[in-house]
Amino acid sequence: MGFMAWTDSLSVSVMEIDNQHKRLIDLINNLYDAMKMGKGKDVLSVTLDELAAYSVEHFSAEERYMRKYSYDRYTAHKTEHDAFIQKVTEFKQGFEAGKALLSIEVMNFLRDWTVNHIAEVDTRFGYFLNTKGFK
Ligand SMILES: [Fe+2]
Ligand SMILES: [Fe+2]
Repeated sequence: MGFMAWTDSLSVSVMEIDNQHKRLIDLINNLYDAMKMGKGKDVLSVTLDELAAYSVEHFSAEERYMRKYSYDRYTAHKTEHDAFIQKVTEFKQGFEAGKALLSIEVMNFLRDWTVNHIAEVDTRFGYFLNTKGFK
């Protein structure tokens, strides 16, 4: 079993978004595994880049649907996405500059943020998309 797992309880009732969340969780697990296996800075850096890039891609996809369907919680939802990207970017820069280490605390932050965001904010948005015909 990996560091974190996607389970049905994390479903936001929209398959396309669930699939993106599964990918995001895979990437967090990859980073955890690389850390646990004691991989060098180059491997960790590439893995971290993949996670950062996919987070941007996934958030953009959600935000595109929010704008398309005039979701009334767009700003609050996007603010959460932006704060996460900001944190990951700062950590990535610190890591690459040798000022920050990948630790279990960092991994726990990534996991907890992702689970909480999916369970609350994305789930609410998923129900909204259901009313627009998404499933
Ligand atoms: Fe999401
Ligand atoms: Fe989201």
